[in-house]
Amino acid sequence: MALLLKSDIDRHGAWEQALRARDPALEVRTWPEVGDPAGIEAALVWAPPEGVLAGLPNLKLIVSIGAGIDHFKSDPKLPEVPVVRMVEPGLTAGMTEFVVMSVLHHHRFMLDYASQQRAGQWQEIGQVAAAYRRIGFLGLGVLAQDAINKLRAFRFPLAGWSRSPKTLPGVACFHGRDQLPGFLARSDILVCLLPLTPDTEGILDAAAFAALPRGAALINVARGGHQNEDDLLAALDSGQLSGATLDVFQTEPLPADSPLWRHPRVILTPHIASMTIPESAADFVVETIHRMRDGQPLRHVIDWQRGY
Ligand code: NAP
Ligand code: GLV
Repeated sequence: MALLLKSDIDRHGAWEQALRARDPALEVRTWPEVGDPAGIEAALVWAPPEGVLAGLPNLKLIVSIGAGIDHFKSDPKLPEVPVVRMVEPGLTAGMTEFVVMSVLHHHRFMLDYASQQRAGQWQEIGQVAAAYRRIGFLGLGVLAQDAINKLRAFRFPLAGWSRSPKTLPGVACFHGRDQLPGFLARSDILVCLLPLTPDTEGILDAAAFAALPRGAALINVARGGHQNEDDLLAALDSGQLSGATLDVFQTEPLPADSPLWRHPRVILTPHIASMTIPESAADFVVETIHRMRDGQPLRHVIDWQRGY
């Protein structure tokens, strides 16, 4: 069986090596070297160019290189075969590292200490016990739940907001638009881990920031389409938000003239909160292909009606 590979950044060699190590019989063809299109039954892709996948007559499965699937907007002619999103321990662990680091950074006033350092200022800021710092997660999926499980050790009061009702031990669970304001009102540090869908686009706007406790911090590690950057800047400048850690932006790469680059209350990274690493993700990809080959149920199939 042949797999078509189209990666986001140039990791084709690493993918080929990792996939072949797990299934030597798998023929990996790297886009644009498609060869005979009829031989390709699976595709592993990020942002497939328009029409490429529709041109594969025997395609049975598409695997997204990322956990998010909004990159498929690049191809409005996606064939009607199951699309499986990336859910694998390496991607989850990477996100948890980033979220825990960022929560602790805001919790321990590191933005303030960094600016005091630049000013040569030796000054203590009163510490807040973790038990009094309420952390809220927009999204209670695979990535949020793992980060929540690791944050439990610090004894932060934890809450989350999802589309459907949930029960998670030790987590105040909110769901649906009606419960969003109540959830935001108890989030001193808000972490966004939602998928980007028509329902969640622009959710981090002036109204959401106003609903947070004054001086709350935002960590957006989901998608730039969730945040209104003008509203975000206004909330930072007014002090409604004390700081923001942003890994994703409305336009990526972030334009050179964006005020976010130099804002003293912003930490930004170039969409690297967690990256799919072929060496750890190849197990999931090969297992998914084997499930398809053996007629077993696939895991983490996208529901296009729901949008994620
Ligand atoms: P997931 O398992 O599908 O979880 C999504 C969560 O969002 C679920 O709890 C879902 O609710 C909730 N949700 C979806 N639509 C909602 C709505 N309209 N209202 C309220 N809640 C809603 O996704 P995941 O694996 O945790 O990944 C989340 C996102 O992280 C990805 O989509 C991707 O965009 C982003 N990501 C970013 C990076 C990076 O490097 N920055 C890396 C990986 C992933 P239900 O539980 O009710 O379904
Ligand atoms: C990265 O952004 C992903 O969706 O995995």
